[in-house]
Amino acid sequence: MRSVDLIQKKRDGGELTASELTYLIDGYSRGDIPDYQMSAWAMAVFFRGMTPRETAALTLAMANSGDQVDLGPISGVKVDKHSTGGVGDKTTLIIAPLVASVGIPVAKMSGRGLGHTGGTIDKLESIEGFRTELSRERFMTQVNEIGLAVIGQSGNLAPADKKLYALRDVTATVESIPLIASSVMSKKIAAGADAIVLDVKTGSGAFMKTLEQSEQLAKAMVDIGTDVGRNTAAVISDMDQPLGFAVGNALEVQESIETLKGNGPEDLTELCLTLGAHMVVLGGKADSVEAAKELLRGQINNGEALAKFKAFVDAQGGDASVADDPARLPQAPITIEVKAEGSGFVEAIEAEQLGLAAMLLGAGRATKEASIDYAVGVTLRKKVGDSVQAGDTLALLHVRESSETTRNVADRVRSAYALNAEKPEPRALLLSVVTSEG
Ligand code: URA
Repeated sequence: MRSVDLIQKKRDGGELTASELTYLIDGYSRGDIPDYQMSAWAMAVFFRGMTPRETAALTLAMANSGDQVDLGPISGVKVDKHSTGGVGDKTTLIIAPLVASVGIPVAKMSGRGLGHTGGTIDKLESIEGFRTELSRERFMTQVNEIGLAVIGQSGNLAPADKKLYALRDVTATVESIPLIASSVMSKKIAAGADAIVLDVKTGSGAFMKTLEQSEQLAKAMVDIGTDVGRNTAAVISDMDQPLGFAVGNALEVQESIETLKGNGPEDLTELCLTLGAHMVVLGGKADSVEAAKELLRGQINNGEALAKFKAFVDAQGGDASVADDPARLPQAPITIEVKAEGSGFVEAIEAEQLGLAAMLLGAGRATKEASIDYAVGVTLRKKVGDSVQAGDTLALLHVRESSETTRNVADRVRSAYALNAEKPEPRALLLSVVTSEG
């Protein structure tokens, strides 16, 4: 086999076989196929697309390129959840204990934040003492004992995807539906779950800007899951503003705790109940999404979800008393009000700008090596649809000191708000669901 022939076949609209795709992925992983040939192939895929059969074969080739986690020692149907990235997205902190509280085992590996998106691991580490590195044995035992564990990505999961994603990033080939779908699913499959629930974001702050594209991506991922025997469901949600009010590590933990107590923001609560309900259905603990939602609402109201959160934090060495006293979380000493200069209704809030603002305050990393400040961030006071008068507070910056940087960040946050004289039509947060049943 020669790479050039496979590139040509894709360039001309052909369908590559599983062994041809494995040849490319294995050769690239080993360093035998150079970046320039892999880039040419990725660009051919960008323009020509891939059939569902090719997409599934590519996914498996990448999933097989490194470690495969065996969750066999954990009893029950293991259901994983993945979000395609979002600002203020703290859903894992809420959903993991929530679904674990009804007996769905959650054995989750999560990532750190980079750029404008935060990472679950950083958020959890804002709780004093919380450890996100556990031995594989301890990880499994904890899930069997208390029903959940969340650790940082360890080992070598889908290294071919990591290499290919880095290449796509610099060759303008990220925004290809089959390449995104296989990239996401290769990591989920290697992570060992029996079933997968995907949270696919759509809108200005997401990879996929339109509902149509997002549905195509969701369908591509559900098809891959079905093809490789992992029951998969995808929920498409709007990302024309950050989720909830808080952006920043400890601030998001605090908001998650409030949500587990039943006092969370409406959008965040609704998304968590919906994603959680799909996990409960795939995990076999309810027959319908509506019944599962009721079950989960009950777990919030009866305190079981919060109790599970405390047991989880405690099991990983963290200070579980933050659940009763969130003031024990890292707190920034100063808050700065970002005031509106004009009046009107909030039409949209550019989520990416809010994420960048939090990063510039120190809540996120501009580079992989950068350290972060758990206490700082942004809390929104106004969301889409709210009425604003000039001088009203749009948001609060939680900072260490007032400086040139914080003044620039305040301007950035103000500019992220689009105001309009007309009240916008209410937009649904949850737009569509794609499952294997169609
Ligand atoms: N996230 C991934 O993991 N891969 C992509 O290709 C895009 C987003």
